[in-house]
Amino acid sequence: MESITIQDYAIHFKSECYKALNSYLDTSNFSKMFVLVDTNTHQHCLSYFLSQINAPQNIEIIEIEAGEANKTIDTCTGVWNALSELSGDRKSLIINLGGGVVTDLGGFVASCFKRGIKFINVPTSLLAMVDASVGGKTGVDLGTLKNQIGVMSFSEMVLVDTKYLETLPQNEMRSGLAEMLKHGLIQDEAYWHKMTDLSQFTLDDLDQLIYESILIKKNVVTQDPNENGLRKTLNYGHTLGHAIESYCLSNPKKETLLHGEAIAIGMVLATYISYKQLNFPEAKLHQIKQTIRDMYGLVELTNGDYQEIIELLKFDKKNTHGNINFVLLEDIGTCKIDCKVENSLILEAFAYYKA
Ligand code: GLY
Repeated sequence: MESITIQDYAIHFKSECYKALNSYLDTSNFSKMFVLVDTNTHQHCLSYFLSQINAPQNIEIIEIEAGEANKTIDTCTGVWNALSELSGDRKSLIINLGGGVVTDLGGFVASCFKRGIKFINVPTSLLAMVDASVGGKTGVDLGTLKNQIGVMSFSEMVLVDTKYLETLPQNEMRSGLAEMLKHGLIQDEAYWHKMTDLSQFTLDDLDQLIYESILIKKNVVTQDPNENGLRKTLNYGHTLGHAIESYCLSNPKKETLLHGEAIAIGMVLATYISYKQLNFPEAKLHQIKQTIRDMYGLVELTNGDYQEIIELLKFDKKNTHGNINFVLLEDIGTCKIDCKVENSLILEAFAYYKA
């Protein structure tokens, strides 16, 4: 598979990725190399990764606890302390080996340590392969509020090796699929249709779908790297999705949802709102809802939950001048950004999701 270049960095695939990494490491003269893992990737991914590296004996391992609840500034402080104690300096490199929490947090840690050191992303979850590790967004949560602290900072390269998906739990796979469905909805109806019937697909087909998903994201971020307009469309389903995710994270009585599971609900809600507000075609709305219900089931939310979720919208990162800005669809592949939505319509959308 041919490498994909976005701005200054390349995304390498399959066996090519370790050739590219080893040649980069051989010619870069880093003073120290660190691999950041979480407890899961330490167990399932690290030894395979190190077996692909020419000089693994020169690498220090730093581990964080797995899970969104650990995507915090406290965890960053722990990693900065470890880097400092292990004599990390300005010529050090961090390789982030993990899912979205590790690549977002590790990129942020690298961007601030000694005012910025280089980093490489090796995503091990589907979600990190098609979304989190690509496009330069790094950061952490503020309490349970998603991605409130962070900087745009680009990795030196991204290595996509789907071998890591062999040990990924089913719910994590589904979480990643949500971002791929989103890429179809915002940019490419043919890709959306392919994603809605995965029953006949093999692992090789998955490689191709991941590749196409990254191309869709590349198309968006190269046109608008700083999210002044078009890139906002990558937040389709995320305004309510992030609020639902934060709400469930902060509420011990609710089952914790993975990012993609919350975004899947957010996409049904945003599509209903699009239908009411922008005449999105009704038949496609029902098909999108059915596809998402078949893949993710129904998450139990009550009227009381809806009000608290709506309250959380005021923390959305796309808000400006006190306005909540939704991304909506006129049709599959045609987005409208910065849309204002009445709370009453949001409540109607929740009722539609539940019906
Ligand atoms: N995950 C959305 C973006 O990278 O813009």
